[in-house]
Amino acid sequence: MSKENRIHCAALRSKVMSANEAASLIQSGMNVGMSGFTGAGYPKAVPSALAKRIMDANVNGKRFKIGVWTGASTAPDLDGALAMVDGIEMRLPYQSDPTCRKRINAGEMEYIDIHLSHVAQFVWFGFLGKLDVAVVEVAGILEDGRLIPSSSIGNNKTWLDQADKVILEVNSWQSSQLEGMHDIWYGTQLPPNRQPIPLVRSSDRIGEPYLRCDPEKVIAVVETHAPDRNSAFTPPDESSKRIAGHILEFLQYEVKKGRLPRELLPLQSGVGNIANAVMAGLNEGPFENLTAYTEVLQDGMLEMLKSGKLASASATAFSLSNEALAELTADLGRYRERIILRPQEISNHPEVIRRLGVIAMNGMIEADIYGNVNSTHVMGSQIMNGIGGSGDFARNAYLSIFMTPSQAKNGAISCIVPMASHVDHTEHDVQVLVTEQGLADLRGLSPKQRAKAIIENCAHPNFKPALSDYYKRALQFSPGKQTPHLLEEVFSWHLRTLRGERM
Ligand code: COA
Repeated sequence: MSKENRIHCAALRSKVMSANEAASLIQSGMNVGMSGFTGAGYPKAVPSALAKRIMDANVNGKRFKIGVWTGASTAPDLDGALAMVDGIEMRLPYQSDPTCRKRINAGEMEYIDIHLSHVAQFVWFGFLGKLDVAVVEVAGILEDGRLIPSSSIGNNKTWLDQADKVILEVNSWQSSQLEGMHDIWYGTQLPPNRQPIPLVRSSDRIGEPYLRCDPEKVIAVVETHAPDRNSAFTPPDESSKRIAGHILEFLQYEVKKGRLPRELLPLQSGVGNIANAVMAGLNEGPFENLTAYTEVLQDGMLEMLKSGKLASASATAFSLSNEALAELTADLGRYRERIILRPQEISNHPEVIRRLGVIAMNGMIEADIYGNVNSTHVMGSQIMNGIGGSGDFARNAYLSIFMTPSQAKNGAISCIVPMASHVDHTEHDVQVLVTEQGLADLRGLSPKQRAKAIIENCAHPNFKPALSDYYKRALQFSPGKQTPHLLEEVFSWHLRTLRGERM
């Protein structure tokens, strides 16, 4: 399909302009809601044009900063470009860009790390202030002005609804066959008038395939032809394979015990290479007719859809390598039947996750001996990415699994520590911990029983003696206490790392 026939609405076609012209409509101090989720479906032209504008303003001694709200992480040509020119005053709800991260940790950019399911409703409630402009990528515009979403939905429905003004990027690089894959539910109400979300199977479609937008609010339409940021996955390493193996064995045991059906329950899989390795393991494993109710559809899940192991997948975005994207595009008509992209307020909705009984599998930075999990901060203070959807899923899942290699930085750091230096998921929301060393099933265990299981099964042998020693001394120091700790020592492991000392 050529660029020209992606915009079928005459009123909106008359608003076509260049990215520079569109960027000139955004003023300093505005809050801008951008599309984009894990490198998929973000606007490709206006953010870079805006970054250039900000740079020019800075050269002339003028301060130009905006608030940037998205679905989740984006790409170097959005987060990277705007962070490079120090153009972001406030960023939310999730980022993974190195320049952004640097600015946040240097105190040059404010960042609010928000549960992804909370973002849309925080905007409806007015908790985040006014949304001035939405900049949203779409794959096409219908004659009546409805929008064909692109490779992610994220918060686009909310941005289009809540923003005073809308800039659309129509990206002809996105396959026109995406049309029909999305499911946008317009039944959202505010408390006290909320109704149940009518979604009882992960494969249910409850809405419509198009985004609605008042054409009167559209101030610019920009045509683009640019790819998503598709990153390659590294093939699973030995550690990831072992983590995947432990999870597979555990799931088989749960089926045998009658606690999971043979086709399991809908899978949620976090981002990254370990998650991808778990999917590769499941693809070779004994389970058939699986389903997914997740946030991001990565290569591993696409493989499973291809092999038939996965019957259907519900997500809010793709996050594919170039090879996987080529596979998807070549057969999009067929995949479209089994993939549903939804707004993130639905893909991550606690009510739906609890109802479906999702098996949640997410990465972490560290866990402590009692099962508190840190997903976001290095050494207690430095943000890595953000909580993303991990809290939405972990808190409400049927089974909440967290996984990590047992050590980081070539063995210098233990990922199992006496006390987590930052807590995103408390001991109450963590049921299973897995490292390449083994799996700790924490269900039904008291804190002291959990400590034994975690140290024994998950810690690396290089750190196990020191952890056991800490725990033993903590028990002696506070005999009989519910959660024994040596408060003067709890962060000594982190402090040693900060001082550059090895354990
Ligand atoms: N202490 C210090 N640094 C640590 C660490 C620890 N205990 N554990 C990991 N790291 C560092 C790694 O060395 C690496 O650093 P580098 O980028 O300088 O190489 C970085 O953290 C990422 O670790 P990595 O092993 O590559 O893990 P990952 O890519 O699997 O990511 C998280 C792990 C936790 C950062 C990632 O899963 C995340 O952002 N989670 C939160 C959001 C989420 O769960 N989203 C999915 C929900 S749907």
